[in-house]
Amino acid sequence: MESGNILEAINLSKSYPGVQALDSVNFLLKRGEVHAIVGQNGAGKSTFIEILAGSIQPDSGSIIIDGQDYVRLDPSQSIERSIQTVHQDNQLIEELSVAENIYLYNLPQTKLGFVNISLCIRHADDLLDRLGIETRSNIKISSLTFVEKKLISIAKAFSRKAKILILDEPTASLDIEGEKILFDIIRRNAEKGLSIIYISHDLGEIFEVCDRVTVLKDGKKIAAHDVKNVEMETIVHEMIGRSSHSLYTRVLNTARIKSDEKLEIIDYSRYKVVDHVSFSVRKGEIFGIGGLVGSGRTELARIIIGLDKKDSGKLVFCGKDITPSSPYDSIKKGIGYLTENRKDDGLVVIRPIFENISMARFARDRHIPYLELKKERTTTEEIASQLQIKTPSISQLVINLSGGNQQKVVLAKWLYANSEIILFDEPTVGVDVGSKSEIYHLIDNLVQQGKIIIIISSDYLELSSVCDRVGIMRFGKLITILEGAQINEENILKNSLGVTMEDN
Ligand SMILES: Nc1ncnc2c1ncn2[C@@H]1O[C@H](COP(=O)(O)OP(=O)(O)OP(=O)(O)O)[C@@H](O)[C@H]1O
Ligand SMILES: [Mg+2]
Repeated sequence: MESGNILEAINLSKSYPGVQALDSVNFLLKRGEVHAIVGQNGAGKSTFIEILAGSIQPDSGSIIIDGQDYVRLDPSQSIERSIQTVHQDNQLIEELSVAENIYLYNLPQTKLGFVNISLCIRHADDLLDRLGIETRSNIKISSLTFVEKKLISIAKAFSRKAKILILDEPTASLDIEGEKILFDIIRRNAEKGLSIIYISHDLGEIFEVCDRVTVLKDGKKIAAHDVKNVEMETIVHEMIGRSSHSLYTRVLNTARIKSDEKLEIIDYSRYKVVDHVSFSVRKGEIFGIGGLVGSGRTELARIIIGLDKKDSGKLVFCGKDITPSSPYDSIKKGIGYLTENRKDDGLVVIRPIFENISMARFARDRHIPYLELKKERTTTEEIASQLQIKTPSISQLVINLSGGNQQKVVLAKWLYANSEIILFDEPTVGVDVGSKSEIYHLIDNLVQQGKIIIIISSDYLELSSVCDRVGIMRFGKLITILEGAQINEENILKNSLGVTMEDN
C-alpha cells in the first residue's frame, strides 16, 4: 500500500440469513481525506464500518491498516490502531456524567487508585471547549437533549488519539447550529491529517465537507468519485437506480382543504419551553413546524399528546374538546405521534416488524374481540413493501434492521393506525432519498383522505416541499406562519435563526 493510504478494505463480504449485507467490497481511505459512504437504507454502510470498528466479523476479505494486514479485527485492535467510531445509535450511558462517559475506559485516577473525578471533569471541559461544544461535563447524560448527546458521542471519539474517525450519520437530527459545530470539527481535524469516513443521506452535506465519495448498493460497491468531479445527479442515480427528477414534487391541491373542519391548538404552554402557542390546522392540510433544535417544537408535541405536563393548553377538533390526558388517551382519540427518537419511544426492537406495525392500531381498536392474524399479516406486508422496508420477512426482529429501515417501521405503524390526526417528529431521519419520496406520497394520500398532518422537521427541503403552511418556532414561541410563496428553504432558515428582513 502506498504511503498516502491509511486504510484499505479488500473484498469484504458479510451475510445474514436471507441478506447479503456486503458483497466483495473494496475501499480505499487516504490520509487526511474526508471520505463519504452513501447508499440506500440497507445498502451495507453500517455493516461496513462496524467491521472496521471490530464489532462485526466479516465472512471473508481483509483490511490493511497503515500497512498491516488483518483478516478480522476485534474492538480493542481497532482502537489500538487508532480507529474511533461514532455509531448510528446513541451508545452513551445515561446514568453517568458527560465526563465519565467520555473517559469511560481510561478514567484518571488518584494516587490511591480512586477515580479522580475532578480531574476527569477538567479534562472533559477542556476537550469540549476545544471542540466548540458548550455543554458542561459534570451533567448526567440523561438530562441532555438528543443533539447534545450526539455532540458528546463525537467528543468521546476525539478524547482518544484517533487517526481514523468514523461517523455514521452524525447529522441525523442535528440542526443548522449543531451541524456547523460538527463541520468545523471535521475540517480542522482533516487539515491536521485525520482521515474521516462519513456516512450521511444528505448529499448536500457530502458536497460541503467531503473529498471523496463511495457509493454502495445492495452490499456492492458501485463507484467511487472525487467529490469535485461528480454531479449530485450521478450519485443519486448510482444509489437508487433512477434520476432525481423522478423524486417527489408535491402537486398542490388546495381543494382538499376543508376550511370549516379544523384542529385548534389553543394556548399551549410549559414553563420555560413552550410559550403560549396557538394555531389551527384544517382537514386535508399538512402543517409544518420548523425552528432550531431546542426551540420547543418537540416539547410542544409532547404536551399536546399528554406525554409531558403542561401549564395550559386545549385541543379542539371540529368544535369538540379532545385534549388528551395521556399518550394512550390521545391514541384512543385518534391522534398519532411519531417521536423523534425511534429507539426510546417508538419501537419494541426485540419484537418482529409486523407486531410493531400493528401496535398502535390495536391500542386504538381495543374493542376488537379477536384478531384476524392472517389479514393482519397481509396488510402489514403491503405497507412494509410500500415503504420499501428492506428485509427477508416481516417476521424479522426490528433490532436486525438497518437504521433507516427501523425508522420506516415507526412510520408504518402510524400510517397503519388510521389516526385522524398525526404528529410526525422528524419523520424521515436516516431515510434515503428514494424512500423519502415514497413516504411523502403516502403522507399526501392521508391528507387526500381528509386527515390532519403536522410535521416537525429540521430538514428545510422537507418542510418546503411537503407542507401547505409552515410555522416557525423560536425560544418556545410560534413566531410566524409561512404560506404559499413564502415557503422556501431560505425563508425557513432565516426565520428559525431569527434573522428578520431588516437585518439584511
Ligand atoms: N444482525 C442482523 N441480522 C440480520 N440482518 C442484518 C443484521 N444486521 C444488518 N442486517 C441487514 O444487512 C443489511 C445492511 O444493513 P446496514 O445496517 O449495513 O445498512 P445501512 O446501509 O447502514 O442502512 P441505513 O441507511 O438504513 O442505516 C440490511 O438489509 C440489514 O437488514
Ligand atoms: Mg446504517
